[in-house]
Amino acid sequence: MVICSVGDGYDNQTMVLVGNGPLRCCWHPVAESTDVEPGPLALTLLGERLVLYRTDGRIVAAPDRCPHREAPLSAGSIVDNTLVCVYHGWGFGTDGTCVSVPSSGAAKSIPPAAHLRCLHTKECYGLIWVAFDEPIGDIPVIAAETNPAFRRINSGMQLWQTAATRMVDNFLDISHFPWVHAGTFGSAQSTEVPLLTLVELDDDFTGYVYEVDAANPNDAVATSGSTDEVVHRWMSTGFALPLLVRSTIRYADGLEHILLLCSTPVDDCTSLFTFVVWRNDDHSIPEQDVISFDRAIGAEDKVMLERIGGSLPLERTGLVSVQSDKPSVEWRRRFAELIRNTR
Ligand code: FES
Ligand code: FE
Repeated sequence: MVICSVGDGYDNQTMVLVGNGPLRCCWHPVAESTDVEPGPLALTLLGERLVLYRTDGRIVAAPDRCPHREAPLSAGSIVDNTLVCVYHGWGFGTDGTCVSVPSSGAAKSIPPAAHLRCLHTKECYGLIWVAFDEPIGDIPVIAAETNPAFRRINSGMQLWQTAATRMVDNFLDISHFPWVHAGTFGSAQSTEVPLLTLVELDDDFTGYVYEVDAANPNDAVATSGSTDEVVHRWMSTGFALPLLVRSTIRYADGLEHILLLCSTPVDDCTSLFTFVVWRNDDHSIPEQDVISFDRAIGAEDKVMLERIGGSLPLERTGLVSVQSDKPSVEWRRRFAELIRNTR
């Protein structure tokens, strides 16, 4: 467990990012909807092992630990909407209530501590989201989800050996494009970043708008819809607390490609990465072809971030920042404030 000191007015405080920290009160995407058909599925969030399954039309998330002798409930099975432990057959209902102790026979002597404390769950954008405790906010709205001109493409989830905070810092940063992404789209971009102005992009996302030239190799044609060597992009990139980034790319022909970049803290230095794409295209290009270039870009970020150890310093003086880092500096400030205010 990493304890991060917070400066900039938060001196003498510490905050725990994993464990009993404030991120427990936030929604985190932990699986794709298709991963829990029906389950049970084992996963780890904020250092805690969880079981996830779908039954009776509901998504259920609970600690992956049977209260009896700590068997992993994810090794069990679902019978008649009941999660049955693989060790001695105790059964749990969808609200976590222990409904069956076979060794006790017909006697209804179920100990009060036998019940599971289920988490909050939601299904949104093809993802399963969970929160340990009463969520302090809702999942941000992506307007394209309900716009019939757009289709949604889910990409799967990957495990990255890096802190979720480092991922957000990276996703808000455009100055690494010509360096880290020279092999995909970055070689056409100037290394100099224009002055960035932070604005409220909508009710949920704070960020900046900018224009950029992007290299458009053969691998990118399915995504950009253009065969030009270089394409101009009108873009906006912004964050929604705690750990979401949305990047919108618009091309000259009106094609929009919206990316929701999700960073889920498995523990302090291991994270789930997933991206969701919305596009107002004609559906003629298969989904996997559309997102293969985005996957290649993500792979470049993964290699870079996995070279850096530990958590992202959150105190203002912990890193040297320049004007191009303004978006991530502001996200770090608000992230630290969120954690301070919800302790
Ligand atoms: Fe689960 Fe015994 S450990 S029923
Ligand atoms: Fe990147």
